[in-house]
Amino acid sequence: MKIHHVGIAVRSVDEAAARFGVLLGLAKGQRYVLPEFGVCALFIPVGDSNLELLEPLSHASTVSKFIEKKGEGIHHICFEVDDIEAALDDFRSQGARLIDETPRPGAGGHLVAFVHPKDTHGVLVELKQG
Ligand code: CO
Repeated sequence: MKIHHVGIAVRSVDEAAARFGVLLGLAKGQRYVLPEFGVCALFIPVGDSNLELLEPLSHASTVSKFIEKKGEGIHHICFEVDDIEAALDDFRSQGARLIDETPRPGAGGHLVAFVHPKDTHGVLVELKQG
């Protein structure tokens, strides 16, 4: 397992990408518009991992609500797993509440699922099948 990305809620992916580019010398990566998640996501490669900048597509987006409540900042951590169904079963059997009982296609069509932050020490966890 590895950390595939750290998701960061921002008001503007372009502004945030420019900022991280200047501060850390990072180049922009792949951009995805994901209406089913209510976001535009821009991946910025950092070594073997990535930053995922998340800009809400509308006020109805959970990322928009996150920014209203907490401001911009770290939104979730994504672990890449070989078998997402098995990983979800592990979380379930240990009593963790799942936001997604079944995986759904995320950026690039990879299967993803979210685990409730109340059961992971306040951190929203995304699982992604590699
Ligand atoms: Co993510």
